[in-house]
Amino acid sequence: MTTIASIGTGNMGTALIQGILSADADITVRATTNSTASAQRLSKELPSATVTAVEDDAEANGKAAAGADFVFVGVKPWMMAETLRELAPNLDASAVLVSMAAGVAASDLAKLAPENPIVRIMPNTPSSLGHGVIALAPDAEVPADSVDTLRQLLSGAGLVVDLDESQIPAMTGISGSGVAYFFLLAEAMIAAGVKQGLSEDDARQMVVATADGAGRLLSRKPDPGAQRQAVSSKGGTTLAGLSKFIDAGIFDIAEAAAQAAADRSLEMERENSEVIDG
Ligand SMILES: NC(=O)c1ccc[n+]([C@@H]2O[C@H](COP(=O)([O-])OP(=O)(O)OC[C@H]3O[C@@H](n4cnc5c(N)ncnc54)[C@H](OP(=O)(O)O)[C@@H]3O)[C@@H](O)[C@H]2O)c1
Repeated sequence: MTTIASIGTGNMGTALIQGILSADADITVRATTNSTASAQRLSKELPSATVTAVEDDAEANGKAAAGADFVFVGVKPWMMAETLRELAPNLDASAVLVSMAAGVAASDLAKLAPENPIVRIMPNTPSSLGHGVIALAPDAEVPADSVDTLRQLLSGAGLVVDLDESQIPAMTGISGSGVAYFFLLAEAMIAAGVKQGLSEDDARQMVVATADGAGRLLSRKPDPGAQRQAVSSKGGTTLAGLSKFIDAGIFDIAEAAAQAAADRSLEMERENSEVIDG
């Protein structure tokens, strides 16, 4: 039986553990939060996990991590230094530390937990449904069998992609943050539908179902260009609409968005590195 400690289990940590547990129930999960209120909420979302709040027990993180095979850390990036400094003495030497923080480099994580193998992952929130994307970037010293077990666990949460750590900012720019770009497009399309005279409820339902349908078609045939051309008849409505996106520079906008998120990821790495070096 594999034991996972989930230290700091908020939006992302909960989504990841939900995905992992949906595929393999034979896993022990010990999860922590800071506040009692969050722990109460989390107990409902992860009924099979043992949940403790630091507010109720100052030693909660250390107790959850002791003896765990994998210690997932899901606190905010700027809290990693403080959290890991406290946690490191409680980790078994064989425990694999799994950081999901954006903008904290593995070399800095290693300064905080020098005795442990370290894996950086970059998940996204559809992991809760088993439809996430999870980049997996293990340090060279992580044993191969631990990487295999982790890959297997994470596959319950979605598509696991092996990347070099240097590729994590690029992955963040299109996938970790990319989920929100699709949400933004949906928001814009609902607003446009309302301007065209639809009720907000109708527009929302239709845009959400359209996004779901488009996603399913893309999963079946993962060639968005070909799918777009297949529905763009010459002189038709779709081509008229698409030309507005293309004329407004949708490819340039996507490139700038991916670049901005990747740049911010690297900037956060530098900021957090300064904090860690004190
Ligand atoms: N959200 C995303 O889409 C996404 C995507 C990729 C990566 N990430 C990464 O995932 C990490 C978490 O992000 P999030 O959006 O899930 O944040 P979040 O919802 O705010 O979750 C943070 C969690 O940490 C807990 N916490 C705070 N201080 C703690 C302490 N001292 N000990 C134990 N737990 C503590 C919080 O508890 P309370 O609720 O009680 O304060 C909360 O459960 C970040 O590092 C982020 O970079 C997020």
